[in-house]
Amino acid sequence: MCGIIGCVGRGDETLETLVHGLESLEYRGYDSAGVALGGDSFGVCKTSGEIEQLRAALAEQSLSGSVGIGHTRWSTHGPPTDENAHPHQDCTGEVAVVHNGIIENYQELRDDLTAAGHTFKSETDTEVVPHLIEDELASGAAPEAAVRTAVSQLEGSYAIAAIVDGTDALFAARNDSPLVIGVGLDAEGTGSTNLANGPYFIASDVPAFRKYTAQVIYLEDGEFARLDGSLTVTGADGQPVEKAVETIEWDPEETGKSGYDHYMLKEINEQPRALRQCLRGRVDELASTVDVESIGDLDPSGIQFVACGTSYHAALYGSQLFEQAGVPSQAYLASEYASSPPPIGDDLVVGITQSGETADTLSALREAKQRGAETLTVTNTVGSTATRECDHALYIRSGPEIGVAATKTFAGQLAALNLFTLATVEDSQRRSSVIPALRDLPGDMQSVLDNSTAAEVAEEYATAESFFFIGRRYQYPVALEGALKLKEISYEHAEGFAAGELKHGPLALVTDQTPVFALVVGDGPIARKTVGNIKEVQARDAPVVAVTDGQSNAATYADHVLEIPETNPRAAALLTNVQLQLVAYHVADNLGRPIDKPRNLAKSVTVE
Ligand code: F6R
Repeated sequence: MCGIIGCVGRGDETLETLVHGLESLEYRGYDSAGVALGGDSFGVCKTSGEIEQLRAALAEQSLSGSVGIGHTRWSTHGPPTDENAHPHQDCTGEVAVVHNGIIENYQELRDDLTAAGHTFKSETDTEVVPHLIEDELASGAAPEAAVRTAVSQLEGSYAIAAIVDGTDALFAARNDSPLVIGVGLDAEGTGSTNLANGPYFIASDVPAFRKYTAQVIYLEDGEFARLDGSLTVTGADGQPVEKAVETIEWDPEETGKSGYDHYMLKEINEQPRALRQCLRGRVDELASTVDVESIGDLDPSGIQFVACGTSYHAALYGSQLFEQAGVPSQAYLASEYASSPPPIGDDLVVGITQSGETADTLSALREAKQRGAETLTVTNTVGSTATRECDHALYIRSGPEIGVAATKTFAGQLAALNLFTLATVEDSQRRSSVIPALRDLPGDMQSVLDNSTAAEVAEEYATAESFFFIGRRYQYPVALEGALKLKEISYEHAEGFAAGELKHGPLALVTDQTPVFALVVGDGPIARKTVGNIKEVQARDAPVVAVTDGQSNAATYADHVLEIPETNPRAAALLTNVQLQLVAYHVADNLGRPIDKPRNLAKSVTVE
């Protein structure tokens, strides 16, 4: 999704700060990029393609200034061309604007502006904004008032940053799209926050400026910020708003690749640590209790989960945990939630979202609130919109995830969902069987990472026609997740099924060119049935990869085995999943795909 960076007070470093910020936002996915600088001079440089291409274009153009904005665009209105890249300008070239989100009334505004004599250069919804500002300036408004009035005419979702020629200030506003302000270190670099002098940054996500500061202020819907030598935030009524400065706890190092070829591989390998962080201080093994901040008193009679993509797979897993504990529960795709049955009684609605900014999930959570439900978000992102709008937040504490494919955050979601059930609805017997497995989970996961032969399996099957994944109960969401991971980064066809469903249709697709990954844990009736399904696909000549703890005889029928340690079946889901993450990674690597930035995908999907 689009990314915004802006800064003031960085002197000669302004341009480099913007480009660095854009590079830090690359993980969100984009197809064009650009910057605008103002202050002593005023200019814009933008291009379709990657930031390397923007750097090349900048080398051809002399651009300097003390205030600036930058943008990575993920196309919604119009293809990824130079003209459609942000920043967008007005007719006079004195205004530059970057925008995330969708302006729903842009066509009417564009028609009116065109009729009034404005000329548009792009097909974007965004371009109406600089022209609206231009009209206000022409009628004598000061730059801040001009931007404010222009923004007040917009309907839809937006995070906007604008600069105006001849003004050393940056203006920003948001509605339904994230925007965070970074409060820089003082001029002496003593590390103290200096609200009076800046420098200040504005971005759609903290990594864009985390190198320079850990002090942040989250802008709320309807708020307007002016950043220059000082920072002023005002509400929709124009009155100043007192904002709290919060400190981001993760280190900028955490957003580097640390020697790995890809963020995805780094993040897969970070999972043991991410799990330790998730569990730390929340589980008391001696007392066999789980204490999770903010949710301890919840006693839901039923749960509705809402989520998208990988987080939806976590929701399916979470819903099984609650069902097993006797609490009726259902997982909904967030984009379908509006047509689902309303919550009953004191049902809790739980939005699972790594980013806390996914538009479909936020919209489902808002729908739930309207229906009168109490809401909780399970998220990785402190200060995200989901955390601010929900009644409760359960943090997965995975640390920043840069690769577009969710990996360590899925593990964090499953671990947090275990904490959630253990802390609220599960009895001491269940706690005493699950808590030791959670304690061992980081170590078990490390052993999977250290001993996995997934790279060899991936090499053998990288050119297969299709990949199928089958599993039952807790392994069913993992099968879906294994297929999603593989298709999104390798561009190969993959599907996950409940193992019992194969014979009801998908078996027709199974051939000797379609490896089947079968997830088999334990040696109970569930495992035995999945072994039966393995035999069915083997009889159709499909190569079989058993991902198993070796308790059943699944390995006997498999061409390859990816092993996991024996543990509680709930914890085993996180371990089989690591093997599938590694398979997906190595298949994509064998095929030479751009693993961290798969085509057409975005890290944070902020449009519905
Ligand atoms: C897949 C992936 C997506 C996200 C989905 C929801 O690897 O990352 O399917 O899971 O877009 O994102 P969040 O969890 O941020 O709401």
